[in-house]
Amino acid sequence: MLVLGLESSCDDCSAAVVEETARGPVLRSLVRESQDAIHGPFGGVVPELAAREHLLQVRAVMAGALAEAGIGLADLDRIAVTRGPGLVGSLLATFSASKALAWHHGIEWVGVHHLLGHLNAARFASPDLAFPALVLLVSGGHTHLYLAKDWTSLQLLQKTRDDAAGEAFDKAARMLNLGYPGGPLVDACAQAAIQASDPFTPPKFRDGKTSWSFSGLKTGVKLRVERNPRLAKAGGADPEVQSLCRSIQEAISAWLLKPIPDWARNRDARSLVISGGVACNSRLRSDAATMAPRMGLALAIPEPRLCTDNGAMIGAAGALLEPDSDPWIQNADADLKLGA
Ligand code: KG4
Ligand code: ZN
Repeated sequence: MLVLGLESSCDDCSAAVVEETARGPVLRSLVRESQDAIHGPFGGVVPELAAREHLLQVRAVMAGALAEAGIGLADLDRIAVTRGPGLVGSLLATFSASKALAWHHGIEWVGVHHLLGHLNAARFASPDLAFPALVLLVSGGHTHLYLAKDWTSLQLLQKTRDDAAGEAFDKAARMLNLGYPGGPLVDACAQAAIQASDPFTPPKFRDGKTSWSFSGLKTGVKLRVERNPRLAKAGGADPEVQSLCRSIQEAISAWLLKPIPDWARNRDARSLVISGGVACNSRLRSDAATMAPRMGLALAIPEPRLCTDNGAMIGAAGALLEPDSDPWIQNADADLKLGA
């Protein structure tokens, strides 16, 4: 089965052709248009600009994915598109275009939950993953831990009480004037560091429930920059900035992974999936690679281009779902719940 996967829930416009085979999904093509240059000057995504840009990008992205796969629209068996959650103006660009294509060419159509997409990004390299699996989804908007009993189900175990991990990276980079998006820039600085600066104190929760919080880290970075204003202007080549980035990155990685062993024992998990933009982080990838075998967990972290938002993950998830019988009565949903 050949599936065109489309994703435009935030600021990436992406299309991919995924071939679903008996041995799992095979990536035939992947095209992604970044809007970093448009949102960069604002230090974050501007929804109105993102929506308008998606409208301009969507045709070229779809045509590019088909051309790269060496197929035409008539060869497609199905179109899968992100239904939500996300920015509604952004979602509607690929959502509406896909409905029109499906109607005109008589192609099956299915709307996909964005987070099921992030889970299915792991199916390309690990089609035989052992379930139940713990699924850590870490991006600019999400820091959520789920339990999956298969590739199409996610049950929430815990989530951040405030900022998402990606937001913490982006805000730290902003305070250090490194640029946008901050995660890859903090990662590069941290890797260049000779040593880490003082560690950040992990949050404590009075109610004793396992959880995450990253707002204290943001305040911690702010205080250090206030104490040493030079850091805000020094740039990524400065050794002190690099050391600070290393402490930030070590804290985020350690805090993210801390609750995993308890949940793994508690739920008899056999695997750990980490996906979403922050799963590109070099420290998180190496810390998880050290921890997972100790816990007897198989580790599945998609290759970086499949961790950030992309059409391939939506195609891979959409290949496993029942197509919708009437795409025209479907709508994008900014707050789409899992299982809805
Ligand atoms: O999944 P994604 O592409 O979009 C959302 O759904 O949010 O994730 C984007 C987030 C941004 O916050 C970005 O800074 C972060 O992922 N990110 C990283 C790295 N690459 C991207 N964070 C840490 N280290 C990285 N290497
Ligand atoms: Zn995402």
